[in-house]
Amino acid sequence: MLPPITPDDIAHAVKALGTGGLVAFPTETVYGLGADASNDDAVKKVFAAKGRPHDHPLIVHLASVAQVSEWVGEIPAAAKTLAQKFWPGPLTLIFKRAAHVSDLVTGGQDSVAIRVPSHPVAQKLLQAFGGGVVAPSANRFGRVSATTAEHVRSEFGDAVDCVLDGGASDVGIESTIVDVSRGGNEAPTLLRPGWITARDLEAALGSAIAAPDANSPRASGMLAKHYAPRTPLSMMEADLVVELARSLAAQGKRAAVLARSALQPLIEGLVWRAAPTDAAGYAHELYANLRALDAAGCDAILVEELPLAIEWAAIRDRLTRAAAGAGPEEDD
Ligand code: TXA
Ligand code: MG
Repeated sequence: MLPPITPDDIAHAVKALGTGGLVAFPTETVYGLGADASNDDAVKKVFAAKGRPHDHPLIVHLASVAQVSEWVGEIPAAAKTLAQKFWPGPLTLIFKRAAHVSDLVTGGQDSVAIRVPSHPVAQKLLQAFGGGVVAPSANRFGRVSATTAEHVRSEFGDAVDCVLDGGASDVGIESTIVDVSRGGNEAPTLLRPGWITARDLEAALGSAIAAPDANSPRASGMLAKHYAPRTPLSMMEADLVVELARSLAAQGKRAAVLARSALQPLIEGLVWRAAPTDAAGYAHELYANLRALDAAGCDAILVEELPLAIEWAAIRDRLTRAAAGAGPEEDD
């Protein structure tokens, strides 16, 4: 059992945030690399630690819905509906920004991303800190997100002042991002799929949700290549996974496989991980599995194709982007 987070741990983390430090903390989606959203020097440290380009905006995390109006220009009716239904939880909403929000946080855009996470440790931290905390996923830019405190430590070492260990993130993939910044009667736009699906959003709204177009705000999680392990990754049907693993072995190479339904064949040097067959379990373990397969030092990561049902859409999105990455030098 994990030692529980104590009031002292929270006080230490709040002090670090208040003095411009970096605090990694668990959320129900993935771990975040947090800094005081009102302190530009602290926000700059987030970009430096992540190696993230400055035109990629950050999500401001708040303890409660009541604080949202301090950070945004207007709250359209659709946003109120979504906030009431899904916050606290794995949803990020993009609003028109309030004038005081730093260009560093918004990437110079006229919008700001807000999330109210539900993880009890994130809640304790945000409540005790009181202000907004910017927190990108706690991974180097373009790489696999962190879902445990151990992942965060291996990614950042001493560059982070404090890591709050809240165990493995429940959901396992990043929040659903919905743009409501156009306001009026414009349909909200789904910018990044997540555990909350388009179908869930439409059910809550009672109306259709739109796909991004040329006027939608940019989101780096939408880059063709993102969430990428160092080992080249590809997705294919189960029989092809086994065939390719065999032909790699015949060339003296090794495959690392993320299987779902396929049964492990006897192949020399093969690394095999059987993922849960349900979408929730699969998402929960996805990044830990990718990290383990990447660490095995094989020549290729082969991922078995996913079912077509909507609850797999966000997982498919992440794996498709992971597959678009070839090696560290192609990092975006
Ligand atoms: O689950 C999550 O969302 C996690 C946890 C820690 O909250 N955070 C996360 O942050 O995934 P990050 O920075 O890795 O991804 C946030 C995405 C990026 O693609 C960013 O470009 C987009 O949100 N974003 C942030 N502010 C935006 C804005 N004003 N307009 C459009 N996209 C924005
Ligand atoms: Mg990220």
